[in-house]
Amino acid sequence: MEIINDIPSLRARLKREPYVVFVPTMGNLHEGHMSLIRIAERKAGCLVASIFVNRLQFELTEDFDQYPRTLVHDCRLLENYSVDVLFVPDEKSICPVRQEFLLELPPVANTLEGESRPGFFRGVVTLVLKLFNLVQPQVAIFGKKDYQQLQIMREMVRQLNLSIEIVEGEIARAPDGLALSSRNRYLSDEERAEAANLYQVLSKIKQEIEIGNRNFQELQENARAILVSHGWKVDYVVIRQRDTLVPVQVDDRDLIVLGAAQLGRTRLIDNLEMSIGI
Ligand code: PAJ
Repeated sequence: MEIINDIPSLRARLKREPYVVFVPTMGNLHEGHMSLIRIAERKAGCLVASIFVNRLQFELTEDFDQYPRTLVHDCRLLENYSVDVLFVPDEKSICPVRQEFLLELPPVANTLEGESRPGFFRGVVTLVLKLFNLVQPQVAIFGKKDYQQLQIMREMVRQLNLSIEIVEGEIARAPDGLALSSRNRYLSDEERAEAANLYQVLSKIKQEIEIGNRNFQELQENARAILVSHGWKVDYVVIRQRDTLVPVQVDDRDLIVLGAAQLGRTRLIDNLEMSIGI
């Protein structure tokens, strides 16, 4: 694995690679990221991963400074895989001047995470487009853990005519169901024990819908009430159309339940997909 920090070296290294498979991350790697790396390995191209904590996607009040930076540990994990290039740029090369060019995003970016965290997706998309321009991958891999982010990436590629195949990875979970996340390390022992309840309430909604319950409003409200009674501050628990993330219409079959809630100072997100029979 070659670690590259600057843009000229990256371009020189990738110049003659015909098939590049790319996994962008913010580091503090865990099994969720590794599951994406394994998908990338199976694509049998030049495998490029990146680690960059993207200031543009953090709000002023958010945890940019505290975000775990664990490069040595990350490299050690990646050494177990056939990663060809690890791109770890510094901020000055990615954003040499104040970032004034920003993309205008579609309406889906203003809902859910976009509503709770204004500017978040604009920051994500601006950075990912830069990385796409630098790495010029044929394939880029994103996890379903950040489902809305994945859908926005698909939309960006479609609407900006990028010839990049977006591939999705399933959510990697702890044995109790908690979706793996770099932010889980902020949880106290007590909070960690409680955290799997987010997955539990979403699972309950999925089960109910799969056995025919169509009272979406009540399902959402019950889930919210359970979380609140367990000390969570809930941003949303919503059942949506899976492909568009808009509210469900009567004849929709492919649904998703998405949740975001804060436990203590840690904000967690999760989702579960479901298909309903006719
Ligand atoms: P980060 O949170 O580091 O996640 C990098 C990739 O790993 C994303 O595609 C995310 O969905 C995926 N991922 C995280 N946890 C996962 C899990 N438990 N199971 C499966 N996949 C998981 O997402 C970002 O970074 C940034 O927004 C980024 C796209 C790198 C732009 O800065």
